[in-house]
Amino acid sequence: MKILIKEGKIINPKKREERIADILIDKGKIVKIAPRINCAGIEREINAAGKIVMPTLVDMHVHLREPGREDKETVATGTKAALAGGVTTVLAMPNTEPAIDSREAVKLLKEIIKEKAHSDVLISAAITKGRKGNELVDIENLAKEGVKAITDDGSSVDDSQLMLKAFEQAKKNDILVICHSEDRSLAKKGVLNLGFSSTCLGLRGIPKSAEFERVARDIRLAEEAEARIHIAHVSCKESVEIISQAKKRGVGVSAETAPHYFSLSEEDLWGFDTNKKINPPLRTQADSFAIKQALKEGVIDLIASDHAPHTENEKDIEFQRAEFGTIGLETALAVAATELIQGKFLDWPDLVNKFTVKPAEVLGIAKPEIREGREAALIVFDPVKEWVVEENNFFSKSKNSCFLGKKLKGKIEMVFYKGRFI
Ligand code: DOR
Ligand code: ZN
Repeated sequence: MKILIKEGKIINPKKREERIADILIDKGKIVKIAPRINCAGIEREINAAGKIVMPTLVDMHVHLREPGREDKETVATGTKAALAGGVTTVLAMPNTEPAIDSREAVKLLKEIIKEKAHSDVLISAAITKGRKGNELVDIENLAKEGVKAITDDGSSVDDSQLMLKAFEQAKKNDILVICHSEDRSLAKKGVLNLGFSSTCLGLRGIPKSAEFERVARDIRLAEEAEARIHIAHVSCKESVEIISQAKKRGVGVSAETAPHYFSLSEEDLWGFDTNKKINPPLRTQADSFAIKQALKEGVIDLIASDHAPHTENEKDIEFQRAEFGTIGLETALAVAATELIQGKFLDWPDLVNKFTVKPAEVLGIAKPEIREGREAALIVFDPVKEWVVEENNFFSKSKNSCFLGKKLKGKIEMVFYKGRFI
């Protein structure tokens, strides 16, 4: 089947270029990119004038919840949500029940993925058995099983000696360590950022030091072991500064943030909306600005959704008792377009780079691009369409979006993947 996408603004995130041209797809492959393609036998023509055409996205922080918490999300529903968000590769987080901490667990998950997944799914495993922080997993065997990264995401490994060993083993087996940086002794039982909002609302706060102290420790340990380290969900200015300094020293560190950290702040919690209860917590407006600046300057390399589905029972309760997390796969690109393009922090090639080439680089997989000869995996995005985030439109099994009711500018119009439009 021959498909012609006409006059879209094509983004090449690898070279950070954009140009207006037509794309001819035949049997799922991009056969030609040129201005004004004329060709016989076109079965479907898409007018993409005024639209952005970009490669599909890689999201390296996604909680698919399977096995064990299929009431929140499954591989099937989570990857459907991914496609709806233009994401065709996800890195699944290992804080499932039980955790992905052994070769057998990875094998089981691989089978589920093979049978149920609608997008590509890469697997990460825990750093410690059962994510309990006491005993390292068998990193060598997990690497042999094709695990891309290790992380105890949801919590941090408190034992520094154990963490150093993890970095050493990771280095030996060329595996990435993803750090959820949180010092529990500082975070205590906090539920939102420590500061003006926590005082006004009378809720226990989490100091920023709970994050940046652990970012600093983890970077130092990785540096000593000469291992690669990736800092997950950076939320505050101080973490940015520590990462920036480490990069200047030449440490192999990369960092991600999630859309809520540059689009919302602690003031958004004044209505006690538990969908905005996230860990690390939403910080101040100054932090949100610092995150945007860090994306612009490249200190934060990439954007990941930290898609964290939870059931209504776990969210529709008192703020203190609600689970931490927001879904994000289906809104990440539009939130980023709204905040970073409209806000003039990034241009399109830069923004797309942070959703495609950068995470691919960090994970060591092929870099998404729109090029002749490659499989067509692309998004047609309307940059001016305005829409409101609504619960009923999610493919995700859970509806706990911190963006419900938010007006966004820019919407995915279609996703082309594996030879068909979705
Ligand atoms: O808010 C969060 N939710 N932060 C995490 O680190 C874990 C995640 C989850 O698994 O729900
Ligand atoms: Zn985390």
